[in-house]
Amino acid sequence: MDGKWRCHWAWCFTLWCVLAYTISEFLGKSIVLATEKNYMYNKQGRRKLDDVSGSISIDCGIAEEVTYTDEKTQIHYFSDAQFIGTGISKNISLQFISEKTQRTFTTVRSFPEEKRNCYTLKHPEGRNTIYLIRASFMYGNYDDLNKLPQFDLYVGVNLWDSVMFDNATHVVIKEILHVPSVDDLYVCLLNTDMGTPFISALEVRHFDDSSYRTNSKLLSLYRRFDIGSTTNEIVRFEEDSYDRMWYPYDLPDSTLLNTSFTIDSLNHTAYHLPSAVMQTAVRPKNENDSLEFDFDTGHPTSDSYVYLHFAEIEELKENESRAFEITLNGKILSESVTPKYLLSTTIDSKQAIRGNKLKFSMYKKPNSSHPPILNAMEIYIVKEFLHLPTDSEDVKAIMFIKSHYKLESSLGKSWQGDPCAPLKYSWNGLNCSNNGYKSPTITALNLASSGLDGTIIPSFLELKFLESLDLSNNSLTGPLPDFSNLQYLKTLNLSGNRLSGEIPPGLKERLDDGSLLWRVDGNPDLCVTGPCEEDKTHIIRLVAGILSAIVFFIVLGIVMTIIWRRRCNRKPVSKRAVRSNEEVVLKTSNKQFSYSQIMTITNNFDKTIGKGGCGVVYLGSLQDGTQVAVKMLLPQCPQGSQQFQTEAQLLMRVHHKNLASFLGYCNEVGHTAIIYEYMTYGNLEQYLSDARREPLSWRQRIQIAVDAAQGIEYLHHGCKPPIIHRDIKTANILLNEKMQAKVADFGFSKLFSAENGSHVSTVVIGTVGYLDPEYYISSWLTEKSDVYSFGIVLLELITGQPAIKKGHQNTHIVQWVNHFLERGDIQQIVDPKMHGDFDFGSMWKALEAAVACVPSTSIQRPSMSHIVAELKESLKMEATREQKGINSIEMNVVDLEAHCGPDAR
Ligand SMILES: *[C@@H]1O[C@H](CO)[C@@H](O)[C@H](O)[C@H]1NC(C)=O
Ligand SMILES: *[C@@H]1O[C@H](CO)[C@@H](O)[C@H](O)[C@H]1NC(C)=O
Ligand SMILES: *[C@@H]1O[C@H](CO)[C@@H](O)[C@H](O)[C@H]1NC(C)=O
Ligand SMILES: *[C@@H]1O[C@H](CO)[C@@H](O)[C@H](O)[C@H]1NC(C)=O
Ligand SMILES: *[C@@H]1O[C@H](CO)[C@@H](O)[C@H](O)[C@H]1NC(C)=O
Ligand SMILES: *[C@@H]1O[C@H](CO)[C@@H](O)[C@H](O)[C@H]1NC(C)=O
Ligand SMILES: *[C@@H]1O[C@H](CO)[C@@H](O)[C@H](O)[C@H]1NC(C)=O
Ligand SMILES: *[C@@H]1O[C@H](CO)[C@@H](O)[C@H](O)[C@H]1NC(C)=O
Repeated sequence: MDGKWRCHWAWCFTLWCVLAYTISEFLGKSIVLATEKNYMYNKQGRRKLDDVSGSISIDCGIAEEVTYTDEKTQIHYFSDAQFIGTGISKNISLQFISEKTQRTFTTVRSFPEEKRNCYTLKHPEGRNTIYLIRASFMYGNYDDLNKLPQFDLYVGVNLWDSVMFDNATHVVIKEILHVPSVDDLYVCLLNTDMGTPFISALEVRHFDDSSYRTNSKLLSLYRRFDIGSTTNEIVRFEEDSYDRMWYPYDLPDSTLLNTSFTIDSLNHTAYHLPSAVMQTAVRPKNENDSLEFDFDTGHPTSDSYVYLHFAEIEELKENESRAFEITLNGKILSESVTPKYLLSTTIDSKQAIRGNKLKFSMYKKPNSSHPPILNAMEIYIVKEFLHLPTDSEDVKAIMFIKSHYKLESSLGKSWQGDPCAPLKYSWNGLNCSNNGYKSPTITALNLASSGLDGTIIPSFLELKFLESLDLSNNSLTGPLPDFSNLQYLKTLNLSGNRLSGEIPPGLKERLDDGSLLWRVDGNPDLCVTGPCEEDKTHIIRLVAGILSAIVFFIVLGIVMTIIWRRRCNRKPVSKRAVRSNEEVVLKTSNKQFSYSQIMTITNNFDKTIGKGGCGVVYLGSLQDGTQVAVKMLLPQCPQGSQQFQTEAQLLMRVHHKNLASFLGYCNEVGHTAIIYEYMTYGNLEQYLSDARREPLSWRQRIQIAVDAAQGIEYLHHGCKPPIIHRDIKTANILLNEKMQAKVADFGFSKLFSAENGSHVSTVVIGTVGYLDPEYYISSWLTEKSDVYSFGIVLLELITGQPAIKKGHQNTHIVQWVNHFLERGDIQQIVDPKMHGDFDFGSMWKALEAAVACVPSTSIQRPSMSHIVAELKESLKMEATREQKGINSIEMNVVDLEAHCGPDAR
């Protein structure tokens, strides 16, 4: 081709690209820029705070313009005024101020008005990295009431801790390690009707990414000790560049060691341990002894992570050595530790430790000449992440609406923190959906009589899940946006404004077909019934002419841009494109089958292997020969399709070796199916009642109980938010060829997302005999309902009796068992088919666990974790009895790798 011609084209393209790019950028950015503006503003605000690398130090309650450097800690503090819009500043009472009182405690911010008040902090270093957040409180009778308050502290949308005081000078410090997954970080104080919440100081510090990495996004500090301190003072900034607070602590029966040399003088580990802390250590008093110490975190169901820090501080000779083994609760944490001279080493627990008791032992190795030492340690407790924050697109839009119309001053007082979560503290004037395992979304917005003026901004159209919008009795002007974009919108109230112009055609369609109801009375300039009057149309035509010309150029520009980008061989960067790619990926990973495939798989529904409330289960086989169970929905089932959909979605997210695994599903009109793995021995109910089968041994039964309990425990505690099965029964426990039990049928499962002890109200679903009586009476569903049902299953395994014994008078298994228990007659309870071949202690333990599950009030029942622990204990006893020389206690340990649903984003 002619070189000149090509050059021409190149020129043309360049020109067009520049023009088109400018126009499209301008149009596209105007929305994006607007929503980002408030973020920018805050970013500038906090830059100044980076005194300790990537940190924020706030002294709550001091005047807005005041900043100061604390003499003792050398930390530079700012006022909290720019981080929160509510609350009042207060000074603590003079009588509690002494020379030793740190300045941050002399003022507080107190919150007498709103129920929930939130500080909004921007992460200095972005999300998904580790922050230490520390909130400090000292009452000091700041309100002259002489009454110690008590209140709750939240981080983001989840409960962090409760704040309580022993006296007016009691300094309460709450510390947490947090990996935020959203843009804004909220620290909220919640009034629990036990006094006015207040706060003295709030600090954020940023950690190196490779330290303190765990599977948990929230770790609450339990203890951080500088072992064997010689000064007996708290070490923090500047000795600790991360500003952790190390408390002096001595271990019992130990001898102090110290050095004056600096630890890690040339190089730091990821933990950046302060030399002042590492320079001191302890060893056992008698150098042949082990170093032993223990802690009780007080929460039997909590998980914790531990970090032990070591550095050799004695100069060892050639022929000397120090090596030791560390165990935690009897399990080996590290086989052999040899701290390096003046260099730090950290041993962490790698995985969460279950339970409240932490017993550490450090043993000298046989060939070591020196005893074990310990320089410092930390223990953190995992906080459950129960709630998800509101859908991020919704948050962006509502935040922009809030700032654009300056709503802070009117109803905006409650507009702090996350808009929807936790649900019971959602903002005034809006309603949210409870989406279970998905983020909540805004479904209703009521801004009637809120003093809005100007035009209706496009952000309203970004609240994609809106069902009802009320903007009546404001001073809104300008044209109507096309609300038909909001596909779920059912009611729209715009009456009493000064809107003008015509009704967008899309909106008109929705109004005509009745899918949207609206009110627009009291807008005199709005042309509701038809096109606007003559003289106006003139102008409109003119505008339309200009607009169409602009549109023409834009379209041309875009087309050219596309061509040019193709030519320049660049990748398309449009968001849409990315999104549709994601959809494709999701679709293909769905494991979705068509009805005709289902017919092939089941060989035209040849063999029935089970029948349930709403479905029939058929035997099938996949192309590769794998046998599967296919559950088909019965057409006469009401709401069945919905139920199947729930089951399919759930099963796709839940993976655990004690839960029946999901291989695919079919969801065509009139045909809904779920494909499970096939379980050779069918369900436990059939197995127990089938006289032709070899009776199960006690070992098999207790193993089945442990398996099933682990499956349920996983649903309750491994899934976030927790899942309640709602239909635990022997018919829903399946057995594979290895007699391993798996819990099946999530059809009734209802995702459960609430704080400790809360519950959700639902239509009562379940199976007679297994149904929790409290749930039946009150319709309040909690995890404890599953515990009750599991108790019945366990009793069936022990007794070999069905849940309800049929006779001229039906007897419930609980009544039946209680009858014999009252007389202390265990022999009558235990299934005679076992011929007394079991360990008595093991049986008793299982029976105790079963009985503990079935009190009529849910509060008296233990958690599944507790039951799992008890049953494992029972299994161990039985295994030991059977052992007789063969060493094969094969315990099933909870699968820690398993994942369930999406983590909190
Ligand atoms: C707190 O005390 C300072 C002086 O120590 C004073 O300027 C300030 O007004 C007081 N604040 C309140 C809320 O009383
Ligand atoms: C206040 O309570 C703290 C923490 O319990 C305690 O250490 C301190 O001695 C108490 N102070 C007074 C004056 O009672
Ligand atoms: C250890 O600490 C004590 C008390 O502070 C001090 O007297 C001694 O010199 C220190 N020993 C070393 C080796 O630094
Ligand atoms: C510091 O540590 C890094 C990684 O741990 C190592 O690669 C480097 O050689 C060390 N530098 C010195 C001076 O010890
Ligand atoms: C420690 O054990 C060694 C060898 O068993 C013994 O010689 C030494 O006296 C013991 N030391 C103490 C302090 O008991
Ligand atoms: C190490 O060698 C020195 C002499 O060089 C001796 O005094 C000491 O007892 C030896 N220590 C051990 C543990 O063998
Ligand atoms: C102690 O023995 C282990 C093997 O049992 C060996 O790996 C280690 O190097 C020995 N330590 C010393 C200081 O001799
Ligand atoms: C939110 O829900 C409540 C109860 O269902 C209802 O009374 C209220 O009108 C709703 N609010 C809005 C803004 O729709």
